[in-house]
Amino acid sequence: MNVEEAIRKRKSVRSYKDKDVSREKVEELMESVRLAPSATNRQEWKFVIVDDDEKIEALKNCTKHKFIAQAPYIIAGVSTDPDYVMSNGKAAGPIDLSIAIDHLTLKATEEELGTCWIGGFDQDCAKQVLEVPKDLEIVALTPLGIPEKPLTEMSKDRKKIDKIITYNEYTE
Ligand SMILES: Cc1cc2nc3c(=O)[nH]c(=O)nc-3n(C[C@H](O)[C@H](O)[C@H](O)COP(=O)(O)O)c2cc1C
Repeated sequence: MNVEEAIRKRKSVRSYKDKDVSREKVEELMESVRLAPSATNRQEWKFVIVDDDEKIEALKNCTKHKFIAQAPYIIAGVSTDPDYVMSNGKAAGPIDLSIAIDHLTLKATEEELGTCWIGGFDQDCAKQVLEVPKDLEIVALTPLGIPEKPLTEMSKDRKKIDKIITYNEYTE
């Protein structure tokens, strides 16, 4: 599968088969995360791969998105230096983590596995479950597993291209 196909096939998967995926397979996917770019290549991140049933249940209680517990894994992307701000005034942590997790979602798609960005969770609750130190930040969670329905290319509900690009200057 090439990058374009993975981009077109990836979707937020909210229903998973009750089937295992090996840790070996997950570690293969995590290689795409390891190779992701980050601001000044600081790589201030850690990814907690959760496959313990009790922890998955506990994480389920940190979000209204209960489907996350259907998947054999939940991966938490943790920014290990959430206070680092770039000269553009933006915190690098969420950006770095977002890029890395996007690598994961696309690589997972290539392997016919499903993911779903979860930003809707209680930060303190998830930190407590995963024993993440208070001064660090969980940027996102994603379940990872075999989608109930295989991923297929489908049209996406997106703005038209002429609404999101402009040449040489910003225009409304
Ligand atoms: C930063 C971010 C946070 C998101 N948080 C959630 C979430 O908490 N729960 C959920 O079900 N989907 C969540 N999503 C998934 C979006 O709803 C989804 O990406 C969007 O509707 C486009 O659909 P698609 O991913 O299937 O292309 C999130 C996506 C992003 C990028």
